[in-house]
Amino acid sequence: MKCQVKRQTLGALLCGVVLGGLLVSQWKFIMPTTHAAQEQAPAQAQQPPQVQTPGQPPAAPETPAQMQADIARLNQIAVDQDHTMIDVGYHFTNLWFAAKQGNWPLAAFNFAEARKHIQWTVDIHPVRRLGEPVDLVPIWDSIRNGVLVSLKASIDQKDEAKFESTYKQTLTACWTCHQASHLPFLHPVVPTAPAQTIISFDPLPAE
Ligand code: HEC
Repeated sequence: MKCQVKRQTLGALLCGVVLGGLLVSQWKFIMPTTHAAQEQAPAQAQQPPQVQTPGQPPAAPETPAQMQADIARLNQIAVDQDHTMIDVGYHFTNLWFAAKQGNWPLAAFNFAEARKHIQWTVDIHPVRRLGEPVDLVPIWDSIRNGVLVSLKASIDQKDEAKFESTYKQTLTACWTCHQASHLPFLHPVVPTAPAQTIISFDPLPAE
């Protein structure tokens, strides 16, 4: 055990030495401008190298305040839960029509996309903090490991009757999460029209 730990430490050390050596030897290729400048001005050799765009003054390292501003900006432009949920609505609608037309591969595709986008929604804000905080994780876990497993099985078994009943049960489960999220007016119902018409719902002749 001790020996193994030692070997790992030694391995990590060696790796560090090799990588460090490589970096030093390749530095002048990675940073030709900086390297040349350092050779001409040895007094500045102690300064950390900076990435420099030709014709531009060298960029100063980011201050903590600038980094915080960057994070705030990235948060602002990051995709939010409404976008991922619109996708869920889209795929879950198409799932209904694919299964109703017996196009089970298309149904399986739409099922997987819908599930992935609910997961994404939860990953974006596991706890919603608009008003009273709502922890979406346990709600999603019970749906994911419950009714969604049955729905997937009905698709795999190409069982239309089972599909129809579990699809409706899932819609109720969707609503449970909306209600918990203080959004009871988002009440999913069986769709009456497909969300798109560019992909055919007809099963391929070979199937
Ligand atoms: C884990 C919780 C959760 C589950 C499960 C869930 N949703 Fe949602 N859904 C939300 C939240 C939260 C919003 C509001 C997002 C926002 O606008 O901030 C939402 C919004 C929506 C919207 C409205 C999107 C818009 O902006 O127009 C639709 C459509 C939707 N969900 C469909 C579904 C369907 C269909 C299911 C089930 C297959 C489902 N949702 C399951 C949490 C969930």
